[in-house]
Amino acid sequence: MQGIFITMEGPDGAGKTTQIELLKDYLNKKGYDVLITRDPGGNAVSEAIREVILNKDFTEMGYMTELLLYAAARAQLVKENIKPALSAGKAVIADRFVDSSAVYQGIGRGLGIDTVYKVNEFALQGILPDMTFLMDLDAEVGIARKKNQAELDRMEQESLDFHKKVVEGYRSLAEMNPDRIVKVDAALPKEAIHDIITSYIEKWLARP
Ligand SMILES: Nc1ncnc2c1ncn2[C@@H]1O[C@H](COP(=O)(O)OP(=O)(O)OP(=O)(O)O)[C@@H](O)[C@H]1O
Ligand SMILES: [Mg+2]
Repeated sequence: MQGIFITMEGPDGAGKTTQIELLKDYLNKKGYDVLITRDPGGNAVSEAIREVILNKDFTEMGYMTELLLYAAARAQLVKENIKPALSAGKAVIADRFVDSSAVYQGIGRGLGIDTVYKVNEFALQGILPDMTFLMDLDAEVGIARKKNQAELDRMEQESLDFHKKVVEGYRSLAEMNPDRIVKVDAALPKEAIHDIITSYIEKWLARP
């Protein structure tokens, strides 16, 4: 079985984790071993870097540092988890990946999308998603969905304006990559979203 690499993107509270759980069952039923990863994180080194990135006390963290830490965590995730899983023919579902950096650091922080992809090219070691699903949801709705969460991390506590830039950034990214990024209306019921996602995967699997 050939490996398949799917990434799930979208703003906070858009329903990425919800869809990943549904997708895991679906891919299991198709006969895939499934690896779910989160970015930043997924192994001891990357989880340690995650702690640094999301630490609310580090208000002085520069945007370049933030970008490089995300890329460093991702490099380890690719090397230790994603590459071996794909080589073993597994389905990898990533809860956020390089597009998150393009949008949060490239657009939200204003470092530029090109800079972000250039830095990450080194970290990704040739690994790119086969398919990316963008859970598209207005920033206010996503934030409202998360309002019961006890504590917000360094990125989540950014302003509404920042989160609006992120949402717009994702939308432009999807327009720039129509062959890879599938934009899904994340305000639909979760079962309807799941059906949209699986219909794209069926098409991908049936491609010549
Ligand atoms: N389609 C949906 N319609 C309404 N509510 C939803 C939908 N999908 C998920 N939710 C709810 O929204 C909240 C956030 O969902 P979820 O944790 O899956 O989002 P997320 O994108 O993973 O968020 P985060 O960025 O915090 O990881 C949860 O309470 C979940 O039950
Ligand atoms: Mg989540």
